[in-house]
Amino acid sequence: MPTLAKPAPQAIVIFGASGDLTARKLAPALYNLFEQDLLPDDFAIVGYSRSPMSDEEFQASIKKAIEANSRCKITPRWSEFARRLRYVPGDYFLQDCMHHLSVELKKVDEELGTAGGRLFYCATPPETFPEIGKRIGEAGLAEGSRIVVEKPFGSDGASAIELNRVLHEVFDEKQIFRIDHYLGKETVQNIMVFRFSNGMFEPIWDRRYISSVQIDVAEDLGIGSRGAFYEGAGAVRDIVQNHMMQLLAILAMEPPASFDAESIRDEKVKLLKAISPIDPGDVVRGQYQKGEIEGEQVLGYRQEPKVDPDSITETFIALKLYIENWRWARVPIFLRTGKRLPERTTTITVVFHDAPHLLFDQSGMQRPEPNHITIRVQPNEGIALTFDAKVPGPEMTVAPVEMEFSYDESFMTEPGEAYERLIHDVMHGDATLFTRADEIEHSWTIVEPLLHRTPPDFYPAGSWGPEKAEELVSPGCWYVR
Ligand code: BG6
Repeated sequence: MPTLAKPAPQAIVIFGASGDLTARKLAPALYNLFEQDLLPDDFAIVGYSRSPMSDEEFQASIKKAIEANSRCKITPRWSEFARRLRYVPGDYFLQDCMHHLSVELKKVDEELGTAGGRLFYCATPPETFPEIGKRIGEAGLAEGSRIVVEKPFGSDGASAIELNRVLHEVFDEKQIFRIDHYLGKETVQNIMVFRFSNGMFEPIWDRRYISSVQIDVAEDLGIGSRGAFYEGAGAVRDIVQNHMMQLLAILAMEPPASFDAESIRDEKVKLLKAISPIDPGDVVRGQYQKGEIEGEQVLGYRQEPKVDPDSITETFIALKLYIENWRWARVPIFLRTGKRLPERTTTITVVFHDAPHLLFDQSGMQRPEPNHITIRVQPNEGIALTFDAKVPGPEMTVAPVEMEFSYDESFMTEPGEAYERLIHDVMHGDATLFTRADEIEHSWTIVEPLLHRTPPDFYPAGSWGPEKAEELVSPGCWYVR
């Protein structure tokens, strides 16, 4: 269960300390936790990476990263935070490479009171995870520690199983925290509250009332400087296997017996197991070509740096799947994600059946729409319920209207950063918002067939993907556009 108590003393070791993830997400999250008094009283942050750097240079790089990316600004307390930042240069693949780290950890135990508490964070490329795990074990640092592993967790089912096996040689499952930052988003956690804390939605949350579900993860950004990584990943590995499967599992799982980590994860696994194999005819893969986003000309995927000019990697995928259980049988679930779409938006739309008999003239409506609930995961976080209302006037004309909840207006605050919540949970050892080994393996079973690549259909940057994707949805159209 989440807690605001301070975690026990510990040293947080960041592998990949000179990398992009540390600068964009980890350094700001740790500093914001510090500013909110949510780090342990006695902590150290030990950066580890190949780049040679002194402690002072590391402190300066973290300060720069916080200035560029943090929601909290640097305050006079910075010097107390900076004093706890240490750096150890080193390789990941050399025997005995953790020796200096081990010495530094003993030092911070004495100087900063970290009392042997260890949290290892792998913010490194995935090929280093098994090595890092092994070396931590060899250095005798694994006992009582926790390890955080970033996605992608494996590049297919077999490699995910192998990675789990290697990590389990050194760590117990309870020590392993596989991070999917979507689970740290307030709006994703709120799906559980929305479903299970309100008496009114759960009774209609099934095939008798719901006609379809649509999950969209749309981004206007392209792949930027991540060409080398993205070429081997594509939208399936980058978004569908992890973020979208997690959104779907939380939206569709059965109510857990309690809100503890194992009960929730058991239900998610049950749901994933019930997803039937996806029909290849229900999949549309796409790749963006040059186009225009917000008035600016942007490159096509094949022209991006470090991308093969003949690449067939998908930057877009739309698909239909079914969950074969009593709750969801025959309800089509549409997933759609892509880069260089017109806007950045993650939404879930739950569409209800039409009224069985239409008494009123709907001809005045701009577009006939069934009742639906839209969960806006980001941006403009909130939930809207769309239903019909009578248009004022002498005629009995109906039109869709919205009932609206927005985080901003209701709580006068924007949801916090996912990484803050997740790092705080790991420091407490709370695994509720992390993916278990079997969840990863089951989600690979679902998406692995999508990895067998066929040439994608092209779409211009700034559009909603290939035209063929429209044909997947029947009747009508995608909800977010
Ligand atoms: C990451 C993907 O996991 O999620 C990126 O690797 C993607 O490609 C990002 O841009 C999206 O995250 P968010 O929180 O901005 O929706």
